[in-house]
Amino acid sequence: MKLFDVYPLFNITPVKAKGSYLWDEKGQKYLDLYGGHAVISIGHSHPHYVAKLTNQLNEIGFYSNSVQIPMQQQLATLLGQASGYDDYNLFLCNSGAEANENAIKLASFHTGKKKIISFSKSFHGRTSMAVAATDDKSIVAPVNETENIIFLPFNDEKALENAFDEQIAAVIIEGIQGVGGVNIPTESFLQKIKQLCQQFGAIMICDEIQSGYGRSGKFFAHQFANVRPDIITTAKGMGNGFPVAGVLISPEIKAKHSMLGTTFGGNYLAVAAAIAVLEVIKSENLVENAAKIGDYLVSQLQGIEGIKEIRALGLMVGIELDTPCANVRNTLLKEHFIFTGSASNKNTLRILPALNVTTAEIDIFVEAFKQVMITEFEH
Ligand SMILES: Cc1ncc(COP(=O)(O)O)c(C=O)c1O
Repeated sequence: MKLFDVYPLFNITPVKAKGSYLWDEKGQKYLDLYGGHAVISIGHSHPHYVAKLTNQLNEIGFYSNSVQIPMQQQLATLLGQASGYDDYNLFLCNSGAEANENAIKLASFHTGKKKIISFSKSFHGRTSMAVAATDDKSIVAPVNETENIIFLPFNDEKALENAFDEQIAAVIIEGIQGVGGVNIPTESFLQKIKQLCQQFGAIMICDEIQSGYGRSGKFFAHQFANVRPDIITTAKGMGNGFPVAGVLISPEIKAKHSMLGTTFGGNYLAVAAAIAVLEVIKSENLVENAAKIGDYLVSQLQGIEGIKEIRALGLMVGIELDTPCANVRNTLLKEHFIFTGSASNKNTLRILPALNVTTAEIDIFVEAFKQVMITEFEH
């Protein structure tokens, strides 16, 4: 059997990782400023994380959600404290798409309605309703097409007001659009969503799968706007590479047995990973570090020729060039051994480092980036 060939792959085989670095099988070292799609939050193979997962596996790795697993409540308590949502309830699942599926399903159960508003350049996952709410026709199969999703222009309050009525079950928006190219919703746009949701009895879902867990310099990016969505979804940085995702649910939305469920969600290993991540985020002040180092990176990028715009909050950084950035990204990887990310906006480079990245590591990137940009400009 061969692998189903759906991924364009770099010809690199990482075999070891530590902090913000990876090594391939030939011993070549790489600086990782992308964390495998924004997943690495506390750094690769953090010792506390490794110890916690190893110890857990030596005790018990799995049982299903048919028995008491007190660690799940411990995780919920820690997450409530870290995020400021201690009055919310937590549903644990396995991936970002699954978290959004459950969020949308829950909004529909709760309101009894089925129209969902999503926005241009959004990305919410590749399954069922998550992909239907994603603004990329090329990944929506005929079976996923539905008239229940209404796409509106991002950050357009008038369009939102005009589209809203009693039929809307939910609005789904990323805390910061990631795949779309690091597009930040204005504070007033988020506030308008919340206000209209309240007015028309709809649910505000904030997808913090990429922008959450401290990356923006606050625990959740939407917290810059001082709004409290009814549902918040998390994944990626939550497990630092171990698949785990969560749906944070307002106490207004009541649970009923069997309304949601999963076999693997909330298993011992996933929960151990997620607890380790929160412990490290707290003990190493990583939310503050993300804000500080993010500001430093943006300050170091000022004035570099060829940059059209920098869009950033904390360590979620989009560098939009005047031209497509594929060459710059490839040269950074092949000649300077630095991983960066792309976006659906072809001119935008996404920089999503671990939250404990250092200024020295940022300096390495900025120096390499300047060199690559100079060479690009000569051509
Ligand atoms: C904002 C956002 N939502 C949802 C997803 C889907 O997550 P997953 O790939 O874990 O299903 C992603 C993945 O990139 C994402 O960035």
